[in-house]
Amino acid sequence: MSQVVQRPPGPRGVPVLGSLNELRKAPTTFLLELANTYGPIAYARFGPTSVYIINDAALIEELLVGKHRDCIKDLGTRELVALVGTGLITSEGDFWRRQRKLAAPPLQPKRIAGYAQVMVDCAERMLAGFRDDEVRDIHLDMTQVTLEIVGRTLLGIDPRRDAEHIRHALERAMEYFDKQLRTIQGLLPLWVPTPDRIRFRKAMVELDRIVYRMIDHCRNHDADAEHLLARLLLARDDNDQPMTDKQLRDEAITMLLAGHETTALTLSYATYLLSENPPCAARLRAEIDSELSGKSARVEDLPKLRYLDAVVKETLRLYPPAYAMGREVVRDFELGGYTLPAGNQVMMSQYVMHRDARYFPQPERFVPERWLEPRSEPLPRFAYFPFGGGPRTCIGNHYAQMEAALVLATMTQQVELRVVPGYKLQLAPIVTLRPLRGLPVLVRRRKPAVRAAPDAAALSA
Ligand code: HEM
Repeated sequence: MSQVVQRPPGPRGVPVLGSLNELRKAPTTFLLELANTYGPIAYARFGPTSVYIINDAALIEELLVGKHRDCIKDLGTRELVALVGTGLITSEGDFWRRQRKLAAPPLQPKRIAGYAQVMVDCAERMLAGFRDDEVRDIHLDMTQVTLEIVGRTLLGIDPRRDAEHIRHALERAMEYFDKQLRTIQGLLPLWVPTPDRIRFRKAMVELDRIVYRMIDHCRNHDADAEHLLARLLLARDDNDQPMTDKQLRDEAITMLLAGHETTALTLSYATYLLSENPPCAARLRAEIDSELSGKSARVEDLPKLRYLDAVVKETLRLYPPAYAMGREVVRDFELGGYTLPAGNQVMMSQYVMHRDARYFPQPERFVPERWLEPRSEPLPRFAYFPFGGGPRTCIGNHYAQMEAALVLATMTQQVELRVVPGYKLQLAPIVTLRPLRGLPVLVRRRKPAVRAAPDAAALSA
């Protein structure tokens, strides 16, 4: 007699594909509807894959913090192995623990303060090329500047020479993942050479060439530097063996990928939201002008720039670059009154949780002020989790927040960017939540803000 497994409610979908088409066409809308219709825990099938979808802050906490030993990263994340190999995002178990320990020091708050100057310099150099009345794709600019910042601060290289190749390779990779995860291409055996797979493999050859060159450069010229790649080059395992070049490549590509695209998206969406909400943009300009008095932003200024911090937080609420994440169950466990059997996928969506009206009144509105006012009830830990949580929480969390704040402060000082008339934001959620066709903005340069008058003591000295 077969055992009856009680499953949470969910859409029936169609034979074979289940709800794959709905997920593919509009993932964020589909996930929002699913949460509204089926509540804290739902079940859906996407092709051959069974997925439990968690829409409740307490259950997400139980999963990511309490049950982390019973899970590994989900199938979707494991697809990324084709790009990042076994870097920090995709590795598991003792190997992951060791690599995480090695990678952590260069990303700790104490150390990242030392990257602030590079971040501001890169932003200022980018802005020096902005002209009055021109239209720019600001998402492209943000992608380039964040790539340069991660290359310089974590890998000790200036990736500008290779930026176009890196960006191109990552674009091909995203197209490949989109097809792999959300079309029937994903159901074909990996050896079937679809055009996307061929393009992806060519792009990987190019990316590998660039990254192995970076590793050689670091080994020959920069081995005693403090950045992440140099630390990894010096690391030895229990048998006193260094990491292989392939492992170094995997960690370097992981940092290049994870360390720039998400922050670029945060900055692009902040630009979009500020353009759509002129009073918020005016309040931000007023804060920046009065606190910085025309001087370049420094890390010490950040605690004073409270509205800037609220703008970044509210942007990450409405458009979380990691809009959903997942796990695979490796040992059965109970969650929300159901048994989640080994082999099943579990998914949770920041996009959905961040738009829950119980925690964020008028959730569709951009209101940075909500982060400045005291709350009547504390926010549950996983009602807002743009950086994930539990042991696998984002290792670049502080780095990303500091970078987003410094680059946005610098942009606010120097330019006013308005989304071009008629532009309608369309989301393209693939691995991250991207704007479908970039983000065209009209540039207006601001007059340099008056520098603060030197104080009387300095004048008389
Ligand atoms: C706004 C920017 C960012 C967002 C929204 C973001 C989001 C996330 C999320 C949600 C996770 C957890 C994934 C999971 O548990 O399945 C994660 C992991 C990770 N992030 Fe970030 N991230 C950002 C910036 C960065 C930066 C700047 C770096 C590197 C400098 C970085 C490196 C990583 C790595 C290596 C992991 C895997 C950590 C592990 O599993 O041990 N991220 N990120």
